[in-house]
Amino acid sequence: MQSLNRFRRFFRYSWLALLVLLLSGCHFDMYNQPSIRTYEPSSFFEDGRGSRPNVEGAVAVNAAFYDEYFLTGLVDGVPGDELPLELTRELLERGQAQYNIWCAVCHGHAGYGVSVIAQRGGIVPANFHQQRLRDASLGHFFNIMTVGVYRGDPEQDGFRSMYSYASRISAEDRWAIAAYIRALQLSQNATIDDVPQDRRGNLGNN
Ligand code: HEC
Repeated sequence: MQSLNRFRRFFRYSWLALLVLLLSGCHFDMYNQPSIRTYEPSSFFEDGRGSRPNVEGAVAVNAAFYDEYFLTGLVDGVPGDELPLELTRELLERGQAQYNIWCAVCHGHAGYGVSVIAQRGGIVPANFHQQRLRDASLGHFFNIMTVGVYRGDPEQDGFRSMYSYASRISAEDRWAIAAYIRALQLSQNATIDDVPQDRRGNLGNN
C-alpha cells in the first residue's frame, strides 16, 4: 500500500516536469530561417523563383578536371599512345618508385612477370617484354591499372586476375608508371645504337 501511494505521488507531479522540459524546447527561430529551400518560390526575385539559373560558364566541381583520356587512357574506347604529361627524368623516377611499390611484387622489378608471388601464389602476371605488350600503346597500360584485368564472364565463371589500382594510385602516378614500363621495355631490348656516343664509355662500369 505504501509503495502504491509513493507511485501515485510521483505521477501526480511528473507531468509538471514533463511540461517544463517540453516548453524549453519550443523555439522555432532556428527552424524558420529566412532562407529559401530548393525550388521554393520567392518574391525577392522578379521571376518569382527561389532557384537561380546557373551563371554563364559555370562548371560542376567534378567536371572541371574531367579529361577522358587523362583518366581512362582511352579515346573513344581505344587506348591512345600519348603521354598527357611532360616526359621528364623526374616523371620516370616517380614512375620507377611507384612501379617498385605497387607492381614489382607480382610483375618483377624488370617486368618479366617473375616474382615470389608469381612462383608461390599460383598466378601468372604478364611479362611486359612479350611482343604483344611491346606493341601495346601507352594508354593500354594506364587503362589496365585503372580498371584491372577481369577474366571470363562476370555473371558466370569470371574472376578478377588483377586488381584495379584507380583508388590507390593517382592518375598522374599511373601515367608515370606507364611511362616507366615503356622505359623498362626499351631497356630490355636496347642495342649499342640506343646509347648516346658520349655515354658509351660508361658501359660496363656499373
Ligand atoms: C597481385 C599481383 C599483381 C600486381 C600487384 C599487379 N599485377 Fe598486373 N597482372 C597480374 C596478373 C595475374 C596479370 C595477368 C592477368 C590475366 O592475363 O588474366 C596481370 C596483367 C597485367 C598487364 C597485362 C594486361 C594485358 O594486356 O594482358 C599489365 C599491363 C599489368 N598487369 C600492369 C600492372 C601494373 C602497371 C601494376 C602496378 C600498378 C600491376 N600490374 C600490378 C597481377 C598483378
